[in-house]
Amino acid sequence: MQTITELEALRSTLAKLRARRGSIALVPTMGALHEGHLTLVRRAREVADHVAVSIFVNPRQFGANEDLGAYPRQMARDSALLEAEGAELLWAPPPEVVYPPGYATNISVAGVSEGLCGGDRPGHFDGVATVVCKLFNQVMPDMAFFGEKDWQQLAVIRRMARDLDLTRPDAAAIHGVAIVREDDGLAMSSRNAYLSAQQRAAAAALPRAMKDALAAIAAGAPASETLGNLHDTLMTGGFDLLDYAELRDADNLAPLAHDNGNARLFVAARIGGTRLIDNMAVEGL
Ligand code: PAJ
Repeated sequence: MQTITELEALRSTLAKLRARRGSIALVPTMGALHEGHLTLVRRAREVADHVAVSIFVNPRQFGANEDLGAYPRQMARDSALLEAEGAELLWAPPPEVVYPPGYATNISVAGVSEGLCGGDRPGHFDGVATVVCKLFNQVMPDMAFFGEKDWQQLAVIRRMARDLDLTRPDAAAIHGVAIVREDDGLAMSSRNAYLSAQQRAAAAALPRAMKDALAAIAAGAPASETLGNLHDTLMTGGFDLLDYAELRDADNLAPLAHDNGNARLFVAARIGGTRLIDNMAVEGL
């Protein structure tokens, strides 16, 4: 695996990769890799001939009071993990390569960026869309892989890719990969490392409470009452704040008062300073 930090070197390495023919998949990450990220790499290896992974802790998607400085950085460990998974290229540019002095362009995706995490984290999805657009332009992959853990992010990227002709227009260009969970159901996240042992134990209440809520909705309980119960369960279970718990259409993210047959439950909640997100389909319970 080649680790590349400069655009010129990226271009020449990609040219050599393309000369060997076959498709190139991109897996964008911010590093501190866990089984969720590595599952994306494995899926990419199954579908594409060559896999490029990017590691870039993108300052533009962090709010002023968020954890940019504290975000875990473990490049040597990540690089060894990616090598073992058979990734061929690691694109790890420093911030000044991605945002050189005078950088002035922003990409904003209306509609799907609004509400949920877009409501709690103003400018977050502009930062995500901007960096992912740049990564697509830098690597020019045939396809890219994203996790359903960040369902709204996936919707933003799909919309942007279609709107800006960034990838082939078919559905196969942007792959969504199911959430990878710990044994107790907590969705894997680089931010789980912030949790103390006690907080980590309490965090499992999130997926548990969500499953209970979905079972209640599937059994016909009103969504508003069910989401109120979910709030109470999390607060008594050790969470400190519920940012949101909402039922939305899985595709266009329109708010729903009832299951429409395509509903998904989206939750963001905090334990201490750590913000955890999760989402689950209503159907299939
Ligand atoms: P990061 O949080 O590092 O996640 C990189 C990719 O891994 C994302 O597509 C995310 O959805 C996926 N992922 C994380 N945890 C997962 C899990 N438990 N199961 C399945 N997939 C999981 O998301 C970002 O980085 C950034 O916003 C990025 C897209 C790289 C742009 O900066």
